[in-house]
Amino acid sequence: MAMALRNHLHTLIKSTLLRQVANKCFWTNLEMGPPDAILGLTEAYKKDSNPKKVNVGAGAYRDDEGKPYVLPVVQTAEKLIMEKMMNHEYSPIAGPAEFCQKAAELALGADNPVLSEGRYATIQTISGTGSLRIGAAFIAAFHEGEKCVHLPKPTWGNHVPIFKHSGMDVKMYKYYDPECISFDFEGCCKDLSALPKRSVVLMHACAHNPTGVDPSKEQWDHLSELSKDKQFLVYMDMAYQGFASGDFDRDAYSVRKFVKDGNEIILSQSFAKNMGLYGERIGALSVITDSKDSAAKVLSQLKILVRPMYSNPPIHGQRIATEVLCDEKLKSQWEKEVKGMADRIIDVRKQLRQHLEDNGSKKKWNHITDQIGMFCYTGLKPEEVERLTKEYSIYLTKDGRISMAGVTSKNVEYLAKAIHEVTR
Ligand SMILES: Cc1ncc(COP(=O)(O)O)c(C=O)c1O
Repeated sequence: MAMALRNHLHTLIKSTLLRQVANKCFWTNLEMGPPDAILGLTEAYKKDSNPKKVNVGAGAYRDDEGKPYVLPVVQTAEKLIMEKMMNHEYSPIAGPAEFCQKAAELALGADNPVLSEGRYATIQTISGTGSLRIGAAFIAAFHEGEKCVHLPKPTWGNHVPIFKHSGMDVKMYKYYDPECISFDFEGCCKDLSALPKRSVVLMHACAHNPTGVDPSKEQWDHLSELSKDKQFLVYMDMAYQGFASGDFDRDAYSVRKFVKDGNEIILSQSFAKNMGLYGERIGALSVITDSKDSAAKVLSQLKILVRPMYSNPPIHGQRIATEVLCDEKLKSQWEKEVKGMADRIIDVRKQLRQHLEDNGSKKKWNHITDQIGMFCYTGLKPEEVERLTKEYSIYLTKDGRISMAGVTSKNVEYLAKAIHEVTR
């Protein structure tokens, strides 16, 4: 009798416990993750009620009214696409061949022998980030050397998690000299020379993010030679072609020089900034090889990587980009519009420096106009950045990086005055 009662109680307790476990939410014990450093800034900016608030955190182009800019050429391309009443079938895994070829031509130059010899494998990707993610996965899977990428210090914040998520180690090489607020050419060459042969080295092709500091042509030439000597697998990240100087060929100098010198590079491209297609997520990944045969093998493996990740890429942004890249008239209109964006940024850099000097700042601000691209690495200290946000409602990243795209002729004076106040 006592035994039966004990068994009954045992079963009762067990089933109650099981029910409790079954009712427990799967994610109760999960830790809250920190907000994204840059997107978190925009959230804080939106909540700020100060009418003078300025958002120079996010890297997205704004016109001189501070409004998002839709390129007229993109609007034209969209109209043409609508008129064609196209279907919504799946895209090929690698994206359409026409888009891939045009993207590669834009980066390498249409007359590049790599193209005529078929020594490249290009796929459409989910913008620059998706391109880097697939590129990183490809290296992690097939590069026979050390599973480690060497990144410039500092670099775009997302590079580290992208490579780590792909199973790569991450190490840094010297790039920026905070004392001189400029490129540390000597330090960079020294660090790269000390790396093992066949290392994977990532470089920003133009408009280095976050510093806005690029090597000169002569310095690129030297880096290319060094990379060739060391047989590096150079990963060129080109998120700002055309946007940096207003000239697509000039911004692609590093990529073309490395390829010309016989480096087998991997290249990530983004059409977010230069076509203003941020949300369309349109980019490309190219692997430059020694032969057509290697390129075909690379392409087959890239497709195998893509298939279980997202199956095939989206079509709308790709159609816009293809329309623009394939039509000579639209392409030259695009080049003018990109130059317009680049020129506005260059102009607002001059204005910011001028206002700082007019305010009587004793500090040197030549780096504002020396730097290139969307970002200005001001050299502001974290406590100065904090004061800018707390006292002036100016939102920027803790490292003192300003997105020049958020600076307009209306807020530049206020921004300069605030920077002067926190640095005097
Ligand atoms: C250096 C660098 N690489 C890649 C990207 C990728 O951007 P997206 O994924 O929006 O094309 C960015 C964007 O800020 C960048 O600055």
